[in-house]
Amino acid sequence: MAALNPILTKVFRGPLDLNGPVFGRIFYLFEYARSYVEERLEAFDARFGTDTSAPTFERNQKTSVHFYVPTTASTIYEILGSIPLQPNKFAFVDMGSGKGRALLVASEFPFKKIVGIELSEQLHRSAEQNVERYKPDSQQCETIELKCMDALDFAYSDEPLVLFLFDPFGREILQNVIANLEASLSAKPRDVYVVYVYPQFEDVLKGSRFLQMVKEGGPKWRPWSRYVVYAATTAAAASLGLDPPPMT
Ligand SMILES: C[S@@+](CC[C@H](N)C(=O)[O-])C[C@H]1O[C@@H](n2cnc3c(N)ncnc32)[C@H](O)[C@@H]1O
Repeated sequence: MAALNPILTKVFRGPLDLNGPVFGRIFYLFEYARSYVEERLEAFDARFGTDTSAPTFERNQKTSVHFYVPTTASTIYEILGSIPLQPNKFAFVDMGSGKGRALLVASEFPFKKIVGIELSEQLHRSAEQNVERYKPDSQQCETIELKCMDALDFAYSDEPLVLFLFDPFGREILQNVIANLEASLSAKPRDVYVVYVYPQFEDVLKGSRFLQMVKEGGPKWRPWSRYVVYAATTAAAASLGLDPPPMT
């Protein structure tokens, strides 16, 4: 059976991947129906005049680039409301921000700044419009930067960080994103939380020397609302520091 594992993994992370060419479309229809029901229940777009609910499967959608579907708003409120941090010291960065749902909800917390990183130009433009439209009285952070770029090229700034991931990409990209984060933490030890919703590849976070799980939540029967929160404290990052950054 053990010998079969790599083959099964190749099949289920290959042609039969839920974001791949065969099951991708079927999964997309499921997600479409789910998002429709959720919007009826939460009325996020209806209340705020935004357009974040409908999933988007692009024509040349790659298997490793997971298609857009928004995080359930109540899940983001639950997570951000439960992390013991002073938001005004932290940047909130959503890797794979899509139409911007998580950014909008995060802006109801007093983060120092909010950054959305999105690969797709079409989704990036939708996010720009949504940020323009979203002006509830409860908004506490208006510094929202949207960047249309590959998450792999993102250069972290030096402040404490909440890194938000809602199943944006496959294992390999996640490994590289976490390796970049570790390099940044090594150069500048600081407090970081990694929030991973629908944590398909949680083992990548588990394997990090810098990160420790501090919370998990969401019902198991609704995998898209399940989440884990990992933390790196300044002290832990400093004690684990790799080589100091090169002198220039
Ligand atoms: C499941 S959606 C998450 C949407 C958003 N974070 C939210 O919570 O509402 C995943 C998003 O990640 C984006 N994405 C996938 N790979 C990416 C990459 N390498 N760089 C930037 N964005 C990426 C996809 O285009 C998609 O919009």
